[in-house]
Formats: sequence, structure tokens, C-alpha cells
Amino acid sequence: MNLFDKQLHVKLEERKSKGILRKLKNYDGLVDFSSNDFLGLATQNQSGATGSRLISGNFVELEHLESSFAEKLGAKAALYYNSGYMANIGVIPVISDRSTTIFSDELIHASLRDGIRLSHAKHHVFPHNDLEKLGKTLANTDGQKIIVVESVYSMDGDSPDLTLLFDLAKQFDAGVLIDEAHGMGLSGKYNLGQAQQFIHHPNCIAVVYPLGKSAGLSGAFVVGSEVLKQYLINFSRSFIYTTAPSKKLIEQLKGQLANLYSKDISIIEKLKNQFILSINPHYSFITGDYSAVVGLLTGEKTLKIEAELLKQNLFVKAILAPTVRKGKERIRICFHDFNTLNEIKLLVNILNNMV
Ligand SMILES: Cc1ncc(COP(=O)(O)O)c(C=O)c1O
Repeated sequence: MNLFDKQLHVKLEERKSKGILRKLKNYDGLVDFSSNDFLGLATQNQSGATGSRLISGNFVELEHLESSFAEKLGAKAALYYNSGYMANIGVIPVISDRSTTIFSDELIHASLRDGIRLSHAKHHVFPHNDLEKLGKTLANTDGQKIIVVESVYSMDGDSPDLTLLFDLAKQFDAGVLIDEAHGMGLSGKYNLGQAQQFIHHPNCIAVVYPLGKSAGLSGAFVVGSEVLKQYLINFSRSFIYTTAPSKKLIEQLKGQLANLYSKDISIIEKLKNQFILSINPHYSFITGDYSAVVGLLTGEKTLKIEAELLKQNLFVKAILAPTVRKGKERIRICFHDFNTLNEIKLLVNILNNMV
């Protein structure tokens, strides 16, 4: 058991000794005088879970899916949340307290930022992917430390050097939480991204896998130790106080994940490389090795370029300040496995004519 798990374990034992430990149970097949399915509509079509997981909405199908997802990653446990947002605001406040300092990259997603806001921790923001600065600040900080990063950033498509990040975490006894939203599906074993390589690292507290991006559904798995899972079941408010996913959704998710694990994703890299090779070199762009996103820095022309592309039936989004820093306005291009080389040609032609 690592240092973080030991702390969580103490709190779970306290609860146990008071006889108030929460556990997931299954009541399928009993006469229902407990659920919120007042009209029977949830059960009739398996369209609703009938209640929260700790009351009436815990199904073996979801427990199996959680175990099999964790197993795919070689991890001990996974816990499903209804969205990535709910996972991030549910996990961060309970793995930290007033004695904690959270160190986050300046570009983390709003859900991670809101999770930090809901916590009682002190907060330090480090410049994007600047692990040297992070190291200096870690060295000057006492108390519990947690680093919060994404494996792939949604706007820039780039990634932190996770090997270096975990070296720092080890050196300064810091825990790490990684959000895989934009990395999942796009690289690594079973297409599950890069963070999986670090799940066993003693300083890894959790990896969050939002399922609304490459997995094409909704929800999120928080993956970590069994102690972490039991701790979240007991203390994480956005897990406890909400209706669970329906059996229908669980079944769909099982299918989506099976597809994701086995998909040949090489076409995305091919399309992205084709774009990079043929775009006019006067353009600057930002991307990373594990991302399907290229940010084409288009400055003052951004809105004009977006309008022109839309006119030609090409759906892209202009990303303006303050979403990105002033001067870094861009057209955010997401490559998908259903895009074609002809579509890339059309896109590049229009962009090159507007340089
Ligand atoms: C990095 C990151 N984490 C979490 C989320 C939230 O996930 P969800 O849409 O499942 O709430 C997003 C959504 O954009 C995201 O980009």
C-alpha cells in the first residue's frame, strides 16, 4: 500500500469501526420498496437505474465492466462516474485537505479546476508543461502535494513528459492525478493512451478516463487502487448523490469499449501527417505525438478562416482569447478515423489560399 492509500485506509477504518462504511450491494430480484422508479418506467425498458448506486442502482453488469476496464489497464480498480466533469469534481476534493498543495498545469480543463476549487487545498499553477518550474516549486513546498495534469491537452494537443513528471513526484513525495480525456483512444496498448504506463507507479493516485470523447458515449472511469475505489464510494459526493447509469447504457458502453480496444487507429496519424506535410509553412501550428488535434495559429484571420471553411461545408471551430492566450488564436482541427485524404486536400487548399 502506498503512502496515499495508507491515509485513505485510515479514514475507511474509522468509518468501519463506527459501523457506517458504505459498500456497493446488489438487490436485483427483490420486491422493490426502495427505488425511485415510482412509475416502473426505468425498470420496464432498462432505461434508468432507479436510484443511486448505493441505494438501488448498482448492477453486476457495471461492476463487471469496471473490473474489466481496470484489468485491461493492469490496474486494481475502476469506478464509473456519470461524466468526466463529475469524476474530476468528485475525486480532487476528497483526496486532498487543508494540508495539501495542488500543483496544476495552467491549461488543465475547467472540470479539474472546479475540482480544485471545491477542495480545501492550497493551489499552485505552473506554466504549461514546464516541469523545471514545477520541480522548483515542489522543492519549496511542505505538506502533502498533488500534481494534476492531462495526458494530452485539448487545445494544444501536446503532452507533459510523464516519465519526468513521475520522477519529480517520487523525488518530492507528491501524488499524481492524470486526466486521459484527449489521449484515450489515440495511442498505447488497447488504444488506452499513455497514462496506463504509470498506473502502477507508487505516486500515481488516479487516472481519469472520460468516455464522451473517443469511447463515444458518456461517463468516466476513475482508475486506481482498490482502497481509492472504496474511499470514493464512501466520500465522493458526485458519485454518491446521483442516479446511476442504466443497464442499457452499461451494455452500450461495453460495446463501445470493445470497439475502442481493437480499432486500427493508424489512419488518424496518416491524415494528420498529410495535413502537416501539405499545409503552407507560413502557418505555425501546435500539436503533439499522441493527439488527434492540430491547432493552426491563425491570429487575426481566425474568424474569417472559420467562416470560409464553413461556407465550403468544412466544420471547424475558431478558438479565441480568453479560451486561449491572446496571440494564440487558432483554428482547432480534429482528425477522425472517418475523415478522408480528399477531405484533407480540400481543407489544406482553402487554408493555403488564405495564408
Ligand atoms: C480534459 C477533460 N476532462 C474532463 C472533461 C469532461 O468530460 P465530460 O464531458 O465527460 O464531462 C473534458 C471535456 O471536455 C475534458 O476535456
